[in-house]
Amino acid sequence: MKISIISGSHRVNSQSKRISNLFLSNLSNIDEKLDTFILDLADASLPLWSPEKKDGKGVWGDTWSSISNSLNTSDGFILVVPEYGGMATPAAKNIFLLCGNGEFAHKPGLIVSISSGNGGAYPISELRSSSYKNTHIMWIPENIIIRNVEEFNPGAHGKNIPEWLDNRIDYVLKLLLTYASNMKPIREIVNRKDFGNGM
Ligand SMILES: Cc1cc2nc3c(=O)[nH]c(=O)nc-3n(C[C@H](O)[C@H](O)[C@H](O)COP(=O)(O)O)c2cc1C
Repeated sequence: MKISIISGSHRVNSQSKRISNLFLSNLSNIDEKLDTFILDLADASLPLWSPEKKDGKGVWGDTWSSISNSLNTSDGFILVVPEYGGMATPAAKNIFLLCGNGEFAHKPGLIVSISSGNGGAYPISELRSSSYKNTHIMWIPENIIIRNVEEFNPGAHGKNIPEWLDNRIDYVLKLLLTYASNMKPIREIVNRKDFGNGM
């Protein structure tokens, strides 16, 4: 089984990337055989979707094919998304336009939102309402919000990180893995040829 983690910030060396790496090690602790892939949208620096994407030239050639293939072969996703201006980041929204080839389709996704302060709810609300229509990603009913993210350092959390958060993360990651393995049969009846986009 394979889980991909997408770091949704367009800042290099972002908190989202740091949290993505921490979640990767949490996943490996739960299942050391798990196959994983991290896509840092800052490092990848993918342009906004454009009609030229279908020509497969430039970045839409090998670079995108390799990313698309890594996502396509995943059974579940974690999207780490910071709150910017009370919104999900543009990079996080863009990836849902770029993944038009069923990469996310009928696979479980966990939203992990982060904030340097007390925010973090808005990206969850936004993504739950607008990202699934054509991608057919299935956000699981749990999500994680890491507030005061700079203080989130497992083993040495700052005083603003609640003591229950590590247990909750562990629980939600196990849920995600269970959804991922149990949702595989659903994909056998998916008809993307006739119903590729949602209504
Ligand atoms: C342009 C910008 C807008 C931001 N807007 C918000 C916001 O609306 N709510 C919030 O809680 N934090 C906001 N922040 C703080 C981010 O949550 C914080 O910097 C976070 O660590 C950014 O994640 P990143 O390092 O992964 O990019 C904003 C930060 C930036 C740079």
